[in-house]
Amino acid sequence: MKLLSVVGARPQFVKLAPIDHAARAAGVDHVIVHTGQHYDPMLSDVFFDDLGIAEPDVHLGVGSGSHGVQTGAMLSALDAVLDAQRPDWVLVYGDTNSTLAAALSAVKLHVPVAHLEAGLRSFNRRMPEEINRVLTDHAADLLLAPTQVAVDHLADEGLAERTVLVGDVMTDVLFQVRDQVAGNPSPLVAELGLTPGEHYVSTIHRAENTDDPERLAAIASGLGGLDKPVVLLAHPRVIAKAAAHGIELTQGSLIAHAPLAYPDLIAAVLGSAGVVTDSGGLQKEAFLLRVPCTTVREETEWVETVELGWNVLANTAGEIAAATARPRPDETDAAPYGDGHAAARVIAELQTRA
Ligand code: UD1
Repeated sequence: MKLLSVVGARPQFVKLAPIDHAARAAGVDHVIVHTGQHYDPMLSDVFFDDLGIAEPDVHLGVGSGSHGVQTGAMLSALDAVLDAQRPDWVLVYGDTNSTLAAALSAVKLHVPVAHLEAGLRSFNRRMPEEINRVLTDHAADLLLAPTQVAVDHLADEGLAERTVLVGDVMTDVLFQVRDQVAGNPSPLVAELGLTPGEHYVSTIHRAENTDDPERLAAIASGLGGLDKPVVLLAHPRVIAKAAAHGIELTQGSLIAHAPLAYPDLIAAVLGSAGVVTDSGGLQKEAFLLRVPCTTVREETEWVETVELGWNVLANTAGEIAAATARPRPDETDAAPYGDGHAAARVIAELQTRA
């Protein structure tokens, strides 16, 4: 079988790692296409190096732009690549502009396309990611769902026949990296001279939190007012928006820091008092590491984390302060994100249908 993965943004490289390993273990010819949506080394190259992913076979070098410019540039470049490669399957990941462009290019060329992490919904149509997910699910031939909730959403939209529950590949990679870093001190704690267990790890990068200056200023000041140091692992987008509007990302308890490589991020979360984020992946990673999470959003796709008490949605400074100070949630052995072997199941499903 010839499998062609299209990736472009940081969370997709994390998901690509277990897929690339499982594909190679199964003797699958795996072609990796990098759209170039993320190009800073700390958002791209370090993931390939640290997670042992093969170098991309094709790099489209698309870079940043408005949604239409970025997605359109990917689309026009991908047609030629898919025509030349003619894989048995194109695999697209998650909900970025790279996901939508690849799904659209493949389906129009009649190349079978599978969507990994299908069926997630926030039901917030102002999020670009929600539009990308819905359109990708309806274009794809095979929907690889991470959770039962995702399976149910797809059934509600008439897509049950194309859906398979495989589990979450982020669990696969997280468990491996957790075991690698377990017992080692967090490099971030050492670098900043923090007391282990006495800081929060934060990421804020979503358009709905960064693009409105009032909202971003309120979040920065809310984080700055927390009871422990808050290390903001600042995505270039939040740095650019804060600079444009004169908002300080280092104030009070808040310390802006460059993004971390994946193993260092996991070590930092493991050694923290909690996570404050708007990232989808980090909400789940915190849950899987049993670190309390506060999510700075109106809703989440990962509802299991909230239902099990490990994640709380908070939007105002007061809500964020109350959520981070809450008592540790009840322990649970629930495993809504699978058993850490989702990638092998994905490859097996694709091979059966190739
Ligand atoms: C994208 C995804 C988002 C995902 C996130 C993960 C879409 C619509 N959004 O958001 O779902 O959660 O990736 O990080 O696809 N920039 C750099 N260097 C880079 C990349 C971006 O400086 O390597 C800056 C540029 O100013 C760019 C901005 O960040 O305009 C936004 O980048 P973009 O890829 O458009 O979206 P993200 O915010 O990264």
